[in-house]
Amino acid sequence: MRKVAILGSTGSIGVNALNVIRELPGRFRVVGLAAHSNSALVAEQAREFGAEVVTMFEDAASARLKKDLVGGARHAPSGVEGLCELASHPGVDVVLTSVVGGVGFAPLLAAIRAGKTVALANKEPMVMAGAQFMREAERWGARIVPVDSEPSAIFQCVQGLNPDPKAVAPLKTIRRVLLTASGGAFGSYEGDLADVTPAQAMNHPTWKMGKKITIDCATLMNKGFELIEIMNLFGLKREQVEIVIHPQSIFHSGVEFSDGSVLAQMGLPDMKLPIQYGLTFPERATRVIEPLDLVKIGTLDFKRPDFTRFPCLSLACEAARKGGGMPAVLSAADEVAVEAFIARAIRFTDIPRVVEKTMAAYTVSGGLPSFQEVVEIDAWARAKAKEHLR
Ligand SMILES: NC(=O)c1ccc[n+]([C@@H]2O[C@H](COP(=O)([O-])OP(=O)(O)OC[C@H]3O[C@@H](n4cnc5c(N)ncnc54)[C@H](OP(=O)(O)O)[C@@H]3O)[C@@H](O)[C@H]2O)c1
Repeated sequence: MRKVAILGSTGSIGVNALNVIRELPGRFRVVGLAAHSNSALVAEQAREFGAEVVTMFEDAASARLKKDLVGGARHAPSGVEGLCELASHPGVDVVLTSVVGGVGFAPLLAAIRAGKTVALANKEPMVMAGAQFMREAERWGARIVPVDSEPSAIFQCVQGLNPDPKAVAPLKTIRRVLLTASGGAFGSYEGDLADVTPAQAMNHPTWKMGKKITIDCATLMNKGFELIEIMNLFGLKREQVEIVIHPQSIFHSGVEFSDGSVLAQMGLPDMKLPIQYGLTFPERATRVIEPLDLVKIGTLDFKRPDFTRFPCLSLACEAARKGGGMPAVLSAADEVAVEAFIARAIRFTDIPRVVEKTMAAYTVSGGLPSFQEVVEIDAWARAKAKEHLR
């Protein structure tokens, strides 16, 4: 029985993870559950899965949960402290990080320093300080298994080569990675992007996800984040990653090896598969998703991304090239800008403007920043991005 903690259990990834766990009875025990404010759903989940520890980020939600959920589960403190407590809980084997944004930074570090296997959905911390997290994971014997569909695809292609989960030899033979993107809500939209609404941007053609990542898909920032995430996860250089638009979201990504052979991981666009693999790794369990019917799908299309129409992708590439604290600036400024767009305070096309101005105000110096420095850069970039909003 693998013992699991889910940080962000009420979101799109969290709920899907519990669906996977429900469909694979006897494989997992849910030890911990955490969310931001949806205490009613956490209470329901805790009762169904018999969670031992629960926590809500928000104080008021934490108080509500204590009233709703009496007996059984222990209540960890609210805020980041509770998330870190769950992430490093001695009774947990696998921590699924599925909160959204930079708030997942400290809990990821806590999980790594406790030597956990991290099923990583929350990509923003890996953008902010991915190389540092990988080094820390090696130091503490922790394992990071990407849950995001495309990084999971690459992980599976590489993993498939060698049964030893710690093997690094296949990584050295990667010539390049084919990182696919659906193109988001505006992949085939020909109108003026300055006029689109949050509701239009939320209308993703293939994936059903939380608000922030869906907007990030519409700007293509999400693909830029994945570029940085996979560079850190697999030790790749920018020029080893080719970003390809693939509207059907069937070819989840591929790896070309030194001899020219390309391995791809494919499947229907259903997050249950990468979540399941993240939770069962290195084993494969019974299928819980619909089988892939290639004949029914018929055609798979691929084209190059439009870097001019979607400047967030160029900004992410620039942050990847500059390195240092720049990816943390990129991530923080994007989080501020996306929130403002959802609140209808800025236009869709202002998102890259806010990010660009914030990046322009930052100078990369020295080598990789420490974790503490990344936290400071993140705070600085959020404040700067808010100035640009005004
Ligand atoms: N959805 C996908 O298919 C997908 C795919 C790949 C990667 N990801 C990544 O996975 C992460 C989660 O995405 P999502 O789509 O599942 O987001 P989502 O549906 O918006 O859910 C976010 C979850 O995090 C919780 N949360 C938010 N802020 C929190 C805080 N400060 N403390 C504790 N919990 C907090 C929310 O709780 P409340 O419900 O109480 O607000 C909710 O449970 C993101 O980093 C995203 O980029 C998602």
